[in-house]
Amino acid sequence: MPDYFKQSVLELHGYSSPPQRDYKVKLNQNESPFDVPQYLKDELAEAIKSLEWNRYPLNESPILMEKLAQRHNVCPEQIVLGNGSNQLFQTLLTATIAAGDVVISTPPTFSLYDLYTTIYDAKAVNILQAPGTPYPVEQVTDAIAKHQPKLVLVCSPNNPTGGETDLAIVEQLCRASQGIIFFDEAYGEFSEHSAIPLLKKYDNLLISRTFSKAFSLAGLRFGYFVGQESVTRQLRKVNIPYNINLFTELVAQRLLENEAEMLAQVAYLKQERDRVAAAMCRIDGIITFPSAANFILFKGPNDLDLFHILKEYGILVRDVSSYPLLAGHQRVSMGFKEENDFFLETLEQIMHKYVGAT
Ligand SMILES: Cc1ncc(COP(=O)(O)O)c(C=O)c1O
Repeated sequence: MPDYFKQSVLELHGYSSPPQRDYKVKLNQNESPFDVPQYLKDELAEAIKSLEWNRYPLNESPILMEKLAQRHNVCPEQIVLGNGSNQLFQTLLTATIAAGDVVISTPPTFSLYDLYTTIYDAKAVNILQAPGTPYPVEQVTDAIAKHQPKLVLVCSPNNPTGGETDLAIVEQLCRASQGIIFFDEAYGEFSEHSAIPLLKKYDNLLISRTFSKAFSLAGLRFGYFVGQESVTRQLRKVNIPYNINLFTELVAQRLLENEAEMLAQVAYLKQERDRVAAAMCRIDGIITFPSAANFILFKGPNDLDLFHILKEYGILVRDVSSYPLLAGHQRVSMGFKEENDFFLETLEQIMHKYVGAT
């Protein structure tokens, strides 16, 4: 094979998309079960007809920047828009990482961090954080002192474990590091805390948000960063021009006007999460972990392939058993009550059979 490609790319497995077909209940990608309401889809489909599709959209949608700035009580210049927050994460690495630079993260965490760290030939310093345990702040600050990382990646609530990192710890990291503390709040709407107010104190803090979860917009791809202007100004230079298409711009604006509806859906999903977690705890042989997001990490007996058994019943969960420290673990996203009940009844049935047979 001619060496067109970097060694790091040749050795890469790439992102593998979880199964999307042949299911009764899809609880594997932390999406919202609530689709955008039909009346809004109709209104937006009508509105797109009167736009000029032959023209480029305004670069960096000033109107979205303004609305998001209002939402978070920051200036519009502090917002960077992306075609999903994953695209912005790539922008961040393009803007900050040269081969060999250090990136610190605390696996098990979002799989894309590792993928992009590899693609950009960064040196990954991984400090393990077992599910249900506090953020290993001492080890991370020691590693910061030793390696002077360009980036420290913190996901809170963390995918796939569901745990949160205290804001006091975020402050400690910001003070300890000369590099950027990247704080991924993809599930921020499900949590009681946001690090955004800390931006007033720390210029090396960068927060990532997405419309793919609470805002029901995974299919359209929209996310954004919030940071201090000194940081967002540089990121904007590297970001892909016109990355927000006309339709996404229109829909995201309209959904921001509908925030009350989104918040009611979030309240429903949080209630479901707590109900499902309590019910799972009562199932013999199942261990769950506290979650501040719209999903629950759980584990069954080591010799039981819960992912495939659930799949046979038509239930898709996310198999996270290949992540560090997560052998035998699965992650289930919260759906509607009936979907969650089907999952719970099936899991109970599977475990009943298993316990009876052992
Ligand atoms: C922690 C975290 N960050 C980012 C994303 C991706 O978000 P987006 O759809 O905006 O690219 C996900 C999606 O699963 C996630 O779990």
